[in-house]
Amino acid sequence: MRKVAIVYTTRTGETERMAQVIVEGVQSAGGEPHLMRVEELDDVSPLAAFDAIAVGTPTQEAKEVHEVTAFLDRLAASDIKGRYAAAFGSYGWSGEGPYIAALRLERECGMKMVAEPLRAKQGLKGTEFDVCRAFGMKLVFGE
Ligand SMILES: Cc1cc2nc3c(=O)[nH]c(=O)nc-3n(C[C@H](O)[C@H](O)[C@H](O)COP(=O)(O)O)c2cc1C
Repeated sequence: MRKVAIVYTTRTGETERMAQVIVEGVQSAGGEPHLMRVEELDDVSPLAAFDAIAVGTPTQEAKEVHEVTAFLDRLAASDIKGRYAAAFGSYGWSGEGPYIAALRLERECGMKMVAEPLRAKQGLKGTEFDVCRAFGMKLVFGE
């Protein structure tokens, strides 16, 4: 069973809501999801136990939020490489955060990307719930 870490932060709860629905997708694909806040991972070594790592970030000032920047710095400097990975997050108008996080996961952290960056504009609605679940499934079945 693939163990999936869903590591995120949130300001107003929207990226957290996405993370919760991604958990449902991981479960429905038979994976083992673990939700974690980036703020809990000053030490990234617990992530060595995971097969896949999803990183969730809101967009602020046209990039990922600073806690996620710092988390990705720590992950890039660690010897945790070659895991399946993807990025997601809520945004208001431009939504660069998940794209930047995905690029850094691939290029600096040496991860194997299993899904395009997933973005949802403030407030999940309609089919976006299914898209988040499908993203969770790719973390289990991807590659
Ligand atoms: C100070 C600030 C800066 C923001 N900058 C951007 C931005 O550059 N681009 C964008 O798409 N959204 C921007 N947003 C909107 C947030 O990304 C949006 O509210 C998002 O849903 C927050 O997600 P969260 O609930 O997970 O914190 C900004 C919000 C704040 C408060």
